[in-house]
Amino acid sequence: MSQQTPGTTATQAPQGDAFENLSQENRRFAPSAEFAANAVVTAADYAEADADRPAFWAKQARELLSWSKDFTQALDWSNPPFAKWFVGGEVNAAYNALDRHVEAGNGDRVAIYFEGEPGDTRTYTYAQLTEEVKKAANAFESLGVAKGDRVAVYLPMIPEAVITLLACARIGAIHSVVFGGFSAEALRSRIDDAEAKLVVTADGTYRRGKPSALKPAVDEALAHDGHTVQNVVVVKRNGQDVDWHEGRDHWWADTVGAASAEHTAVGHDSEHPLFILYTSGTTGKPKGILHTTGGYLTQGAYTHKAVFDLHPETDVYWCTADVGWITGHSYVAYAPLINGATQVMYEGTPDSPHQGRWWEIVEKYKVSILYTAPTAIRTFMKWGKEIPAKSDLSSIRVLGSVGEPINPEAWMWYREVIGADSGRTAIPAPIVDTWWQTETGAQMIAPLPGVTATKPGSAQVPLPGIAVDVVDELGESVPNGSGGYLVIREPWPAMLRGIWGDPERFKETYWSRFETMYFAGDGAKKDEDGDIWLLGRVDDVMNVSGHRLSTAEIESALVSHPAVAEAAVVGAADETTGQAVVAFVILRGDAVDTGDAIVQELRNHVGKEIGPIAKPKTILVVPELPKTRSGKIMRRLLKDVAEGREVGDATTLADNTVMAQIAHSLKK
Ligand code: WT7
Repeated sequence: MSQQTPGTTATQAPQGDAFENLSQENRRFAPSAEFAANAVVTAADYAEADADRPAFWAKQARELLSWSKDFTQALDWSNPPFAKWFVGGEVNAAYNALDRHVEAGNGDRVAIYFEGEPGDTRTYTYAQLTEEVKKAANAFESLGVAKGDRVAVYLPMIPEAVITLLACARIGAIHSVVFGGFSAEALRSRIDDAEAKLVVTADGTYRRGKPSALKPAVDEALAHDGHTVQNVVVVKRNGQDVDWHEGRDHWWADTVGAASAEHTAVGHDSEHPLFILYTSGTTGKPKGILHTTGGYLTQGAYTHKAVFDLHPETDVYWCTADVGWITGHSYVAYAPLINGATQVMYEGTPDSPHQGRWWEIVEKYKVSILYTAPTAIRTFMKWGKEIPAKSDLSSIRVLGSVGEPINPEAWMWYREVIGADSGRTAIPAPIVDTWWQTETGAQMIAPLPGVTATKPGSAQVPLPGIAVDVVDELGESVPNGSGGYLVIREPWPAMLRGIWGDPERFKETYWSRFETMYFAGDGAKKDEDGDIWLLGRVDDVMNVSGHRLSTAEIESALVSHPAVAEAAVVGAADETTGQAVVAFVILRGDAVDTGDAIVQELRNHVGKEIGPIAKPKTILVVPELPKTRSGKIMRRLLKDVAEGREVGDATTLADNTVMAQIAHSLKK
């Protein structure tokens, strides 16, 4: 067995190369005395959670949620890796996100400030949002959707997305959101896998000032026999013409708009499935990650409050993630509303109509907590600090980062350019780098902004009640100063409960690498203080602009094109997007290498099979691929080529001339 640890093997994500640079990073930023004094969560939570983890979470569950029936047991771990949290309890997610705030007299508080890309705006108070969700719940029920049924959601970032999710949760239907950037084919496979009964979509949205369609992809996804979809509800958003299937298609305004605003929420079992969200793994087939209700809501609400130091009466929170990703589920649709926060929701791109759009939004709504991704920060760095400088950002008091490792340069820029304007104190806004995954459901590793002295580039500490470790090949905890694999040692409330329809794959993927520990797929390092630095994926999963893509999935899309005989995909380090997709393809004997034309055609083909986000940045046509004697493609050698490095040890290749052949073909 190899004794190498992540960070030293060549199969590491590019951040592994930053291992040495990160070791030089020794800046520390303690919270201001004022911030610490007013923080909603203190260091006491660590001690309390350490003393009795399930009891700590049980206390959070009772404090943060209203249960229609109290639970009798915090955690049932008698059948690992299948956990049950808050056993016997009953809780309704929508009631907790909406009705109870209205009942408590906060109906007039703004829940959502919506900003459309063209500049249209809508404001929903908690009372108004509650009414909309009740109507949507009635409408979905009238279309035959019942508890346990699956609803596919293919919507842009508009309030109807949140309304749809909460309406499903209210009636116990299981939503399965498919990001609007995925293709008709990707949508079809997800609808089929979940056997969805209803699809909720829109005519389209706006992208950089232009209408962008969604409904045609739904039509295409449903163009085959044998699918399970009975109805499609369509939000009119951009007003573009759409094909209409009488009897199947219904305008949102006609169904939801006409429905009754009376709807009583009943509690669902704590372990009732809340949603499925597909994510890429190491194989060609996306996994339907399954989350349930009580534990998911509890950890989401606790982390949202603790990590962002949420003061719901005064803060304005903005998470820029799309509802098509887990961040948009946990930290847009659920946790902020459970916590009674006021949030901003923006439909479009950061550069529409100009590169200052986000900062105008921050100024306009006085955003105090901003949660975004390193790829966005690096893009803003490229555009220049004079752009945010045009807006008043003094409302900002907490900055969050998620999705990929944030390099110290981007972290410092975020602090100094976006966070330093804070007029309140002389000390810039704290940055919380939050590590988690679709599978973990909620944040797992992050500083507490009123407690932790932050370090640029590190997510640092497991949250209270979360047992994270870094281990070596054999599963032994590594000492401080060493790297290894990131694992989670104890079950946590928001953990995935399985993979939809495939319990074996759940065990195999996450629980077989190390017995009794959850293997996250990330490499990490403990520094001399024991703080954790994430180093990127150690498997064949890529991270492009914080979007998770599978090498195998893109390879299988490429070989489905008639001109392609073989394909190998790697994630190559990229300054802005973290990683970029680079594909090496061997064309079929009868296919003519038409140079740019075939490359363009293959990129579009991947766009059609998976979605525009998966299009390779670079496609290199090569005569051979480097393989071991057992036929395994040696991706690390291709990565060396893609990143312009000298090619590493190639002695285990079946044919040791291959790398020279590739180099020669690329010089031409
Ligand atoms: C993968 C999970 C969590 C919501 C967005 C992504 C990477 C995520 C960080 C971070 C370093 C991070 C990991 C992880 N990742 N956050 N703060 N620092 N890496 O969710 O699509 O399920 O991807 O994103 O590699 O495994 P996801």
